Amino acid sequence: MPRCAVSDETDAAAPPLCEKLLGVMQSEKHPAKVAKMFDSVAPRYEIITDLISLGQDRRWRRAATAALHAQPGDLVLDVAAGTGASSAVLARTGAEVCALDISPGMVAVGHHDHPDIDFVVGDAQSLPFADETFDAVTVSFGLRNMPDPQRVLAELARVTKPGGRLVICELSTPPWRVLQFAHHIWIGRVMPLIARLSSNPASYRYLTESIVDWPGPTTIAEWAAAAGWRHISFKRLTGGIVTLHWGNR
Ligand SMILES: C[S@@+](CC[C@H](N)C(=O)[O-])C[C@H]1O[C@@H](n2cnc3c(N)ncnc32)[C@H](O)[C@@H]1O
Repeated sequence: MPRCAVSDETDAAAPPLCEKLLGVMQSEKHPAKVAKMFDSVAPRYEIITDLISLGQDRRWRRAATAALHAQPGDLVLDVAAGTGASSAVLARTGAEVCALDISPGMVAVGHHDHPDIDFVVGDAQSLPFADETFDAVTVSFGLRNMPDPQRVLAELARVTKPGGRLVICELSTPPWRVLQFAHHIWIGRVMPLIARLSSNPASYRYLTESIVDWPGPTTIAEWAAAAGWRHISFKRLTGGIVTLHWGNR
């Protein structure tokens, strides 16, 4: 049995969130809709991500892995792992990686490209694992897609061993005005052009909106603290286009 065996004690079928209360943007983040959207972009997800980020995503994934301090033999959960691009970098540390994602299409590509990694289809808001299973947990470019990120942070705390580590790597808005302008042009004008290469260009409109809507790093740190994480710090990468948060259980 894999060390990240799915527990039948947790309730995988959580009640749907009330979309009316969450507003239009949040309702677009309903897990079933998000899964469908990522299913549709899965075949070319990694190449489009490389183009949109000008290859910087590789650097960001390495920074996230370094911040996690995973040791050989550690059991690490990579939530919203998609096609396993972040999980593969993590696995190079010698840690055993469990890659969870809600999109069966993304997971199918991940299975094919990384047969040595354990992939699980599941919802981050109701993780199918027992309490205190993992030595470390991480989520890269995924928390922003979830309707209730605070609930996800609490779920991550539940499945992490005491003292275990959390790293969040997420797109963000740069704090400096000049960069903000360039960023605005990039995500508003250039990204939609690159997205035409995708199998579902319309889904990249959602990406732009979700970046603009995402709160600043202090709010994310407050959410993590409220969810039970301690010693939370953050660091901006590439002028704040991406922010890394880390903390301990
Ligand atoms: C932008 S991709 C990031 C994938 C990967 N972490 C990477 O670095 O390339 C976001 C992923 O979050 C997943 N996702 C969104 N909501 C989720 C949820 N509620 N539970 C699990 N995965 C979710 C999507 O299916 C998608 O694969």
